Amino acid sequence: MELFLSRIDFGGVFGILLAMVVSCLLFLHFSSRKKFRTLPPGPTPLPFIGNMHQVDIKELINSLKELSKTYGPMYTFHLGSRPCVVLSGYQVLKEALIDKAEEFSGRGDFPAVQMWSKGNGIVYGTGERWRQLRRFAISTFKNFGMGKRSIEERIKEEAQFLVAEFHKTEGKPFDPTFFLSCAGSNIICTLVFGDRFEYTDKKFLMLLDLINSNWKLMSSTWGQMLFSFPEIMKYVPGPHRQIYKNYLKLARFVGERLEMNRQTLDVNNPRDFIDCFLIKIQQEKNNLDTHFNEDTMLKTTVNLFFAGTETVSSTLRYGLRILMRHPEVEEKLHEEIDRVIRVNRSPCMEDRSRMPYTDAVIHEIQRYADIVPMAVPHTVTRDVEFRGYTLPKDLNIIPLICTSQFDPTHFKNPTSFDPTHFLDESGRFKKNDAFMAFSAGKRVCLGESLAVMELFIFLTTILQNFKLKPLMKPEDIDITPESTGLGSIPRPYQFCLIAR
Ligand code: HEM
Repeated sequence: MELFLSRIDFGGVFGILLAMVVSCLLFLHFSSRKKFRTLPPGPTPLPFIGNMHQVDIKELINSLKELSKTYGPMYTFHLGSRPCVVLSGYQVLKEALIDKAEEFSGRGDFPAVQMWSKGNGIVYGTGERWRQLRRFAISTFKNFGMGKRSIEERIKEEAQFLVAEFHKTEGKPFDPTFFLSCAGSNIICTLVFGDRFEYTDKKFLMLLDLINSNWKLMSSTWGQMLFSFPEIMKYVPGPHRQIYKNYLKLARFVGERLEMNRQTLDVNNPRDFIDCFLIKIQQEKNNLDTHFNEDTMLKTTVNLFFAGTETVSSTLRYGLRILMRHPEVEEKLHEEIDRVIRVNRSPCMEDRSRMPYTDAVIHEIQRYADIVPMAVPHTVTRDVEFRGYTLPKDLNIIPLICTSQFDPTHFKNPTSFDPTHFLDESGRFKKNDAFMAFSAGKRVCLGESLAVMELFIFLTTILQNFKLKPLMKPEDIDITPESTGLGSIPRPYQFCLIAR
């Protein structure tokens, strides 16, 4: 009897406790909804999981695109308990990122990286620190010749190293991933570390592997889960936990390079970005509010190394696959390269204005490959009136830039690969404002002009030297991505390069 009574007591206390916890959580849920009642309508969220029951977590971006068909170009979506406003289509993206550039320039939650960066650096920084670091990086790159001849010469030289490596494959099947990563990464390495690496350098290959696997992890289902439920996923075992560890390894390598630079620094003769940063730290050493310190330098350098490596190489890898699916496009590229550049000199940026077809194809590759489909989440930097709603300061914004790139009101054939999207009737290059591969506004990609040079020189140099030979019939080549998250990942493939 006594035992029975104590069971009843235990059950009763447990029931009361459970009811209290649930009511507290529901109270928190509804009071937070009250706080966000000025937001645009969207699907009804449930406590804790938000709207995650209404999407396919493996296809988060496609699900968000799908929801915009019901809720329009701007709607509220709860990533777990985190409310976000999703922007979809060229018009609303332009009104936010360009017309209200300052207000939409905050950086939103991206837990996979914030666990490591803690808001420091350029990509994940906000406010005055971000502004100063971004300005410093842009001006330093300019001094080292971005947009001028010297960096172009470096890209031309690297393109020849790449071609030499490709020749070694002697027309046999191979996977181009690491060759392209080495080439892309070496350009940013020259700017940041003052030097390139050999394609056989084991440490370099290990670093590229870390970047490549983090890019893939952030774009996987595990990455989407971490993005949606950071507080829970932090404790759940799984491959996503490797992201943080990989960042630590990358930071260790960059830390070693910083030390090497420090020991050999000549303040009158800076060799690279790191030297310039070290000098800036010295100049600001009496400024108590300075944003230039060791941690900022480390995180900014890792940002540049990461952002500058995987993006260009993924685009090239995707581009070559698309060209194998469309041999008629490859043929026209060969024709234009042979006519304008011929065979006895390397392609250079001056050629681009005389090569409208190539220019259009590169834009179309970037549009179709869509390698950073939702940019990186933004926030609004203050309370802002937008399209009849009040968006409170720090609210997360998801700019689905992919929806601009595939907007049917701006591209006649959005789901097909069609270079005429960027050509007028006379075959001249035609700009399209809805092209947002580099995003837009204050957070627009910092490496845009560098990436544009790399894509043009690398692609034309490859096609000047080789013809692409797929291992299957062109019509059987699948050009949809393998997975989509932070990045759209092209399917792995092998192919042959036949010397021309
Ligand atoms: C095809 C190549 C590339 C593409 C498609 C690309 C695309 C992007 C996109 C979509 C963003 C996010 C913008 C936003 O938040 O709205 C971004 C940011 C950024 N990119 Fe790139 N990128 C490329 C190459 C590069 C290169 C070569 C560098 C190296 C310097 C670089 C450095 C950065 C940095 C530092 C940011 C952060 C900017 C900020 O938060 O202020 N990117 N990029």
